[in-house]
Amino acid sequence: MANENSSLHTAKRNKKDEFYTQIVDIEREMRHYRSHFKDKVVYCNCDDPYVSAFFEYFTKNFEFLGLKKLITTCYKSQHMDLFSQNDAEQAIKLEYSGGASNSLPTPDDIGVTPLEGDGDFRSQECIEILKTADIVVTNPPFSLFSEYVAQLAGSGKKFLIIGHQNAITYKEVFPLIKENRMWLGYGFKRNMAHFIAPHYEDTASDADHREGMIRVSGVVWYTNLDHSLRHEEMILVQRYHGNEAAYPRYDNYAAIEVSRTQDIPADYDGAMGVPITFLTKYNPEQFEIIGATESEGTGFSSGLWKPESGVAQAAINGVRVYKRLFIRNRKLVTSEA
Ligand SMILES: C[S@@+](CC[C@H](N)C(=O)[O-])C[C@H]1O[C@@H](n2cnc3c(N)ncnc32)[C@H](O)[C@@H]1O
Repeated sequence: MANENSSLHTAKRNKKDEFYTQIVDIEREMRHYRSHFKDKVVYCNCDDPYVSAFFEYFTKNFEFLGLKKLITTCYKSQHMDLFSQNDAEQAIKLEYSGGASNSLPTPDDIGVTPLEGDGDFRSQECIEILKTADIVVTNPPFSLFSEYVAQLAGSGKKFLIIGHQNAITYKEVFPLIKENRMWLGYGFKRNMAHFIAPHYEDTASDADHREGMIRVSGVVWYTNLDHSLRHEEMILVQRYHGNEAAYPRYDNYAAIEVSRTQDIPADYDGAMGVPITFLTKYNPEQFEIIGATESEGTGFSSGLWKPESGVAQAAINGVRVYKRLFIRNRKLVTSEA
């Protein structure tokens, strides 16, 4: 019974992961990283070349980016889902080094080879391929995101991947963000994306509904490739001094509450609690990330929490607020405010 339950759970989880990125979204993000890709081996390790727009993007732009090689591997169940003709549960690999006579080569033009195992990104076979790569680019399974990021960060490889913004405070993810080993990319319009998902019921409102797709909000790109947005300074127009009532102190953290990123005051040199969406504007030369609320992980607040309060979620006058990151303005740090 336990086994039956766990295989049902796996089937459900796998299904939840079966949605596919649109090429326009890849093109829009990749535009900002061209210089990083010259002479590089790109690995897409959650990508069936027959369906993946990442495969399509990198083959189409192989010469333009000056790539050395493209490798894609595909998890066996990915094949089954969209292609009934390919339901042999075979995990596959494709390697392309450019030069196809057709400028838009198909997987069959290039040639796919079977993998020995199931194509799981965690398998030794795929880890060996990862070692040969320079940059990993994909949309990995959301349900395995923590494991996926932990493996990638441990590999020391460059990456550009899609994930949900909720992952920012996962215990495997947040330390990387705090230490500037991973940050957000340029991002999707309005922080949401439509993914190709023929088997899903879309719950988007009429205005946002697109046939054969699901709308997912809170989707972001995570990367450790440098880009110019990350060096743009946010212009701070609000002031704390003389306007203290607008920035209440938390009951249980030694910090002030800034409920909207655009309201970060220009003149406050202490710890400030901000929403996680602050990261879309984060410039590490302008701000330091001190931590996050203890509700996201023990020890995350770097000592700002008042444990005697007993409440881990940030609260103001007894009213709890949503997830918060704690930041400090690097340009103003003069005291232990
Ligand atoms: C969100 S989908 C994205 C697919 C594709 N990368 C894209 O962007 O269109 C994640 C894919 O990862 C595959 N997947 C699930 N578990 C995996 C695993 N353990 N190893 C490799 N791929 C996996 C799923 O089959 C699914 O197709």
